[in-house]
Amino acid sequence: MTTLKGAKACVFDAYGTLFDFASAARSCRDEIGDDFEKLTVLWRDKQLQYTWLRAAQERHADFWQVTGDALDFALETLALQKAGLRDRLMSLYLALDAFPEAPALLGRLKAAGLGLAILSNGTPRMLQAVVENARLDGLFDAVLSVEDVGIYKPSRKVYQLAVDRLGVPKEKICFLSSNAWDAYAASAFGMQVVWCNRYGQRPERLPGNPDDEIRSLDALPALLGIA
Ligand code: LAC
Repeated sequence: MTTLKGAKACVFDAYGTLFDFASAARSCRDEIGDDFEKLTVLWRDKQLQYTWLRAAQERHADFWQVTGDALDFALETLALQKAGLRDRLMSLYLALDAFPEAPALLGRLKAAGLGLAILSNGTPRMLQAVVENARLDGLFDAVLSVEDVGIYKPSRKVYQLAVDRLGVPKEKICFLSSNAWDAYAASAFGMQVVWCNRYGQRPERLPGNPDDEIRSLDALPALLGIA
């Protein structure tokens, strides 16, 4: 365990890190049945693939469209094209559950004087909706969307957006993501990084080397020396 050095701000990934993207399909178990976990995995995988593929093709479409396109692919693959289900799942994506430890953790970091921000692929509207729904509004100094740079993570332009908007040098930013590829990319960019490895993934073989790995956000204050 390394103690993070001189962090002035904590910047969080949204989906999978603060907000549980699995809660959408889980809430539709009545219609989806036992396939709800398969749907979560396929929807998420396809959503991320589409962000990377669109970035490589320089054909950006916003995360609401990409999320809907990925959902259409997943529903068709699993033969779950029921009337109203797509709209229900997309609405639930605007009201995802926050992970249970997130609200108190954010309050604690703020009380310790750290700047707080979200840096996400989500559109401003999607992010505002999940933040308000989880009653986390007011805690963040900035809720930053890739829409301001027109390309998805892990483009360096996205991580630079946090530096520019917060006015904090990259080495004084502690970035948190449960997505290993996102954590590695932020580390390669030059931020201090804590990989919140909720899903027990193996390390990536990609540039970057996260400073710490934790299983839930509860372990963060000790790393920041504010436990
Ligand atoms: C985000 C995705 C990558 O919030 O989880 O940017």
